Amino acid sequence: EFMYQQGENHMAANIQAPKGTKDILPKNSGTWQLVEDVMRDEASIHGFEEIRTPVFERTELFERSVGDTTDVVQKEMYTFLDKGNRSISLRPEGTAGVVRALLEHALINEGVPQKFYYLISCYRYENTQEGRQREFHQFGCEAFGAAAPVADAELIALAHGIFERLGIRNLSLEINSIGCPECRAKYHAALKAFLEASKSELCDTCLERLDKNPMRILDCKTPSCGEITQNAPVMKDYLCHECAEHFTAVQEYLDAAEIEYTVNPRIVRGLDYYTRTVFEFISNDLGAQSTVCGGGRYDGLVKQMGGAQTPALGFAMGMERLLLIMQAQGIQLPEPPVCELYIAPLGKQAQIKAFAFTNMLHQASIKAECDMCDRSLKAQMKYADKIGALFTLVLGDDELKHNQAELKNMKTGEKTSISLGDTFLTEFVAAATQAEDMMALNMDELSVDLESFKQFEKE
Ligand code: HAM
Repeated sequence: EFMYQQGENHMAANIQAPKGTKDILPKNSGTWQLVEDVMRDEASIHGFEEIRTPVFERTELFERSVGDTTDVVQKEMYTFLDKGNRSISLRPEGTAGVVRALLEHALINEGVPQKFYYLISCYRYENTQEGRQREFHQFGCEAFGAAAPVADAELIALAHGIFERLGIRNLSLEINSIGCPECRAKYHAALKAFLEASKSELCDTCLERLDKNPMRILDCKTPSCGEITQNAPVMKDYLCHECAEHFTAVQEYLDAAEIEYTVNPRIVRGLDYYTRTVFEFISNDLGAQSTVCGGGRYDGLVKQMGGAQTPALGFAMGMERLLLIMQAQGIQLPEPPVCELYIAPLGKQAQIKAFAFTNMLHQASIKAECDMCDRSLKAQMKYADKIGALFTLVLGDDELKHNQAELKNMKTGEKTSISLGDTFLTEFVAAATQAEDMMALNMDELSVDLESFKQFEKE
């Protein structure tokens, strides 16, 4: 058998995955798929449809939407000139591309609200640590054309629903309102005046933020900045009548949906486009990178990007962080069996027959494998065991001669004789369906059986 040291790569001894990226290996990708299936399903029952936009966009798009004073744009973007001398950036998040596509295809003309979801990779040149990567993945939702506070609650309910269905516990939902440009200007003035007094004690980054984006100082992790802002004025006291009413209504809807939350005036978000409601889902199981999901309204962005005034809102959750929480909480998702029938041929003739049968099974969407490595019978059975084959079929000279073979149920040890002729497929399906544990022979039913999945969560 082939063996080599982990981490060793014989083809190119020194090449490893770039810092901040992670391979998602087959032993984990099943879990990713199940989680993604839950997300797609939850989005779909809320009336959101999938949108796929390019991994890279013109740099300007992010500068103008995410904001050129944000850390993401200033420090973290993967930006380069392409061969046509255009400045291009890998997407650091998903909202900007969706807004661009909405405008480019005039999707809003098709009626409101327009509701999209996406499962994407994102790129940020960050200092890496657990839960913070340079290539990471997001599930996100964006809705356009819905100004009413019920839309905020509905969006939060969608995110909440996903966590519930995955059986994730102990998340806290923190919400805030950062108002509209009018009331926020007044708040910024008050905050700046307050911070001016302790200006000399602010960290360098916050000193820069003081002029352009003072609210971000509330989010600074430097202890001295935290102390300074402890008694700083809060946005809540500066909200205009409309913004205050909107925020109160959002809370009423959340109450109606029995979704628990706390109002946290320090939730300000790191991207520039937000207005009014902002929210984060925070976990204690994540260490420093505790935010698993963040989002809010961005009522001004579509207009700012050249469209008509269009209320909008959305969120994104970090896939890696979500999976870390599930791991920390010991949540395991049931995975479908890898193989329903393993065919073990002995000899050249049998191998051809095994291949033909396997091919037939594949055409019927049955998970089947046959030997690819010229292994001995013993080694083949060991392999069948390893991949969790539900049934095995040994094909030797004798079997071929009599056109009959024994189908073995690997769990019960029970054997059934089946024909190796034209009726092979129907005989196999009949035998397998009779077997107790064989609930589904169909890939579709096996891969996401959401009913039994929900049942599993409850246990
Ligand atoms: P964000 O807060 O920048 O918001 O990112 C959303 C989530 O992505 C975070 O809560 C976190 O779970 C995950 N995340 C962010 N950076 C990293 C990283 N370096 N490594 C691993 N996970 C990370 C947005 O991106 C907005 N576009 C969300 C949104 C959509 N707002 C409105 N619509």
